[in-house]
Amino acid sequence: MHLTHSIAQLRAAIREASAGKTSLGLVPTMGALHDGHASLVNQARSENDLVVVSIFVNPLQFENLGDCDDFRNYPRQLSEDVALLEEAGADIVFAPTEQEMYPHGTPLLWVRSGTMGERLEGASRPGHFDGVATVVAKLFHLTRPDGALAFRAYFGQKDAQQVAVIKRMVADLNFPVEIRPVPIIRASDGLAESSRNQRLAPEERTHALVLSQVLHRLRDEVASGEVIDLEGAREELRSSTGVTLDHLEIVDPASLEPVSESTLREPLRSPALVVAAIHVGPVRLIDNMELRPQS
Ligand code: PAJ
Repeated sequence: MHLTHSIAQLRAAIREASAGKTSLGLVPTMGALHDGHASLVNQARSENDLVVVSIFVNPLQFENLGDCDDFRNYPRQLSEDVALLEEAGADIVFAPTEQEMYPHGTPLLWVRSGTMGERLEGASRPGHFDGVATVVAKLFHLTRPDGALAFRAYFGQKDAQQVAVIKRMVADLNFPVEIRPVPIIRASDGLAESSRNQRLAPEERTHALVLSQVLHRLRDEVASGEVIDLEGAREELRSSTGVTLDHLEIVDPASLEPVSESTLREPLRSPALVVAAIHVGPVRLIDNMELRPQS
């Protein structure tokens, strides 16, 4: 495996490794890798003959452009991450410094995620999805293979809004890359894997389980043709010990527009997505579930 830190090293490594290859799979990450990330790398590995993983804690997508505790405290553990990626079979790792990615400081020109980035997660994190779209646009340019290689990029369904925003960026701005969403990886107790879970005390972790339980129940209600009890689900989260509800919404998976109240008064007829965020102790947790009506 090739560990690169500069753009020049990355481009040279891709050029060298591309000979005789037919496709390149990119997995963008911020490091602190766990089973969720490993699943993205595994899928990229199974679908491509060259796999590049980036590790960069992107200040643009944090509050105050990274001038915040969330950014400063974000776990940085490159040697553990490199070991995991070696094991998962990545070919090239790109772990740049901030200076390498933003040599002129904060960029003057950004990708704007517009209304898609303002709702749900974006409502509590203004500018977050502009920061994500901007760094992902850069990573696409930096890792795009030369010549005839197919180019695919892997994003976890754990961050459903991120997947929707990036897919729309690729469609609206004609990026020559195929976006491949990867299912959510959960721990055996149901909690979606996240680097933030490290910050949950054991008791808080138990409190957090209600989130995936409520989402699974909504999924089962839809699958068995029942009308969803959305308000009941919200109430359950609101009244659950140690949990503060941020949002629980049922939205269109592509546009993220809320499904109308009149549609929700009947059993769902087309697929939708339930998305949620809660606070447990110091940690904000997100999760989501596809809702598939009876066929
Ligand atoms: P990060 O939070 O490190 O996540 C990297 C990728 O791993 C994302 O696509 C995320 O959805 C996926 N992922 C995380 N937990 C997962 C889980 N439990 N199951 C499946 N996939 C999971 O998301 C980012 O970094 C950044 O915003 C980034 C796209 C790298 C841009 O900076």
